[in-house]
Amino acid sequence: MRFADLAFCLALLSYAAAYDPLDPNGNITIKWDIMSWTADGYVAAVTLNNFQMYRHIMSPGWTLGWTWAKKEVIWSIVGAQATEQGDCSKFKGNIPHCCKRSPAVVDLLPGVPYNQQFTNCCKGGVVAAWGQDPAAAVSAFQVSVGLAGTSNKTVKLPKNFTLQGPGPGYTCGRAKVVPSTTFLTPDRRRKTQALMTWNVTCTYSQFLARKNPNCCVSFSSFYNQTITPCPSCACGCQKKNNCVKSDSKIVQMKGINTPRKDNSPLLQCTHHMCPIRVHWHVKVNYKDYWRVKIAITNFNYRINYTLWSLVVQHPNLNNVTQVFSFDYKPLVPYESTNDTGMFYGMKYYNDLLMEAGPFGNLQSELLLQKDKNTFTFKQGWAFPRKVYFNGDECMLPPPDTYPFLPSSAHRHRFAVSSLIISLLLLISIG
Ligand SMILES: *[C@@H]1O[C@H](CO)[C@@H](O)[C@H](O)[C@H]1NC(C)=O
Ligand SMILES: *[C@@H]1O[C@H](CO)[C@@H](O)[C@H](O)[C@H]1NC(C)=O
Ligand SMILES: *[C@@H]1O[C@H](CO)[C@@H](O)[C@H](O)[C@H]1NC(C)=O
Ligand SMILES: *[C@@H]1O[C@H](CO)[C@@H](O)[C@H](O)[C@H]1NC(C)=O
Ligand SMILES: *[C@@H]1O[C@H](CO)[C@@H](O)[C@H](O)[C@H]1NC(C)=O
Ligand SMILES: *[C@@H]1O[C@H](CO)[C@@H](O)[C@H](O)[C@H]1NC(C)=O
Ligand SMILES: *[C@@H]1O[C@H](CO)[C@@H](O)[C@H](O)[C@H]1NC(C)=O
Ligand SMILES: *[C@@H]1O[C@H](CO)[C@@H](O)[C@H](O)[C@H]1NC(C)=O
Repeated sequence: MRFADLAFCLALLSYAAAYDPLDPNGNITIKWDIMSWTADGYVAAVTLNNFQMYRHIMSPGWTLGWTWAKKEVIWSIVGAQATEQGDCSKFKGNIPHCCKRSPAVVDLLPGVPYNQQFTNCCKGGVVAAWGQDPAAAVSAFQVSVGLAGTSNKTVKLPKNFTLQGPGPGYTCGRAKVVPSTTFLTPDRRRKTQALMTWNVTCTYSQFLARKNPNCCVSFSSFYNQTITPCPSCACGCQKKNNCVKSDSKIVQMKGINTPRKDNSPLLQCTHHMCPIRVHWHVKVNYKDYWRVKIAITNFNYRINYTLWSLVVQHPNLNNVTQVFSFDYKPLVPYESTNDTGMFYGMKYYNDLLMEAGPFGNLQSELLLQKDKNTFTFKQGWAFPRKVYFNGDECMLPPPDTYPFLPSSAHRHRFAVSSLIISLLLLISIG
């Protein structure tokens, strides 16, 4: 089996699994810290921490849901809001913010009045990936709960947590009581402690998120004129009837770029029908180095990808010498391997991948130092083993279509093996 074949099989396998070998500890943890008990319940700070290295929560942001264990209500929320109030008709005077048994809570938009804000709130539910910006990988709000237990013996943990980020894909575990969080006072001279803390862990599975991939990869090289395109219908061709030709007049119409409530895309017509294509071009061969050009193209007229990220697995990424115009960070999921890294946009420069059209693409070049023992242009070695865009794995072309070195790799392999056989013959004869 050739290396590229193996990589292809592994890619197919891992597409189905929830476990992500490139980010084995990645999860989103939701922490409830009870800050005070009230006459009929408690006030809690709820914090979402995104511990995933390269998967962020894009606009329109997260929706957090749960089911109350008893008849709890939400008196008020600071820094977020429940999407529906529900039936509060049995209350007189003070009306709760939400009476639903299974509330759904969303972040507020930036720019809300100061008295409605809470630390780390009000970012429209956008949460950065841990590997990209740990300081922005958090979101929080404060909730006042009524008709609840009023001590750590009587309070009941909410059940059936759900997280949309923004679409489906996350599965949340049960809430677990954990050691109480400690906080430093603003002057950092005193430690305080939550009265009680519970955690919920949510993990992502691309398989749950969508039936088809969301992006595909194409290849080219300086040593072969063949351009290996994205596989046909890589992202499913169901939307083919609604796609827009890039030269169509519709593209100039006002409102064409307005995102839809259900986030449905408006794709440019392509044979792959992917919203995102990543192109890897093996550009130059130097004596001790080689150079790759990476281009990312957006084919969706209705999405600007903010805080986009690209993850690439390739054995030569342990010797990245320079990355031009993107930020780069090696991902080292296991101490022994260093073949994976994440690329992302530079703040305020190219961290926005614009909607489809003349500006809907980004490019970078990558200079790698050859490792004398492993480096080769043969058998597709120079092409990535895995590519992820925004945390979702992209479909690679079938290995036998990769651009080959003119002196065919197969013939060469045959030459080597026949050389070995001749040598063995010589030895055994001699
Ligand atoms: C969630 O992620 C954090 C950070 O990587 C890790 O320490 C923790 O063990 C993970 N939790 C679970 C339940 O996997
Ligand atoms: C609970 O979640 C917080 C992050 O929100 C994390 O720092 C802490 O380690 C978690 N505790 C346990 C026991 O998993
Ligand atoms: C409940 O609070 C008491 C003190 O008020 C403490 O001793 C006990 O450990 C707490 N139990 C839990 C489960 O947090
Ligand atoms: C939680 O979800 C499970 C399975 O989806 C369901 O059987 C159970 O009734 C739900 N519990 C509550 C309290 O809604
Ligand atoms: C993308 O961003 C540009 C510039 O900020 C804006 O004009 C355009 O309407 C946005 N497109 C979408 C689909 O949100
Ligand atoms: C991994 O590779 C990068 C270059 O891409 C290098 O800077 C880093 O030191 C390497 N880390 C380890 C643990 O080998
Ligand atoms: C490439 O990186 C590995 C470890 O990351 C190191 O052992 C090796 O010497 C490097 N090769 C070159 C040519 O720098
Ligand atoms: C270029 O690569 C393709 C496979 O993708 C192969 O069919 C073709 O023979 C190669 N061209 C040359 C000149 O080797």
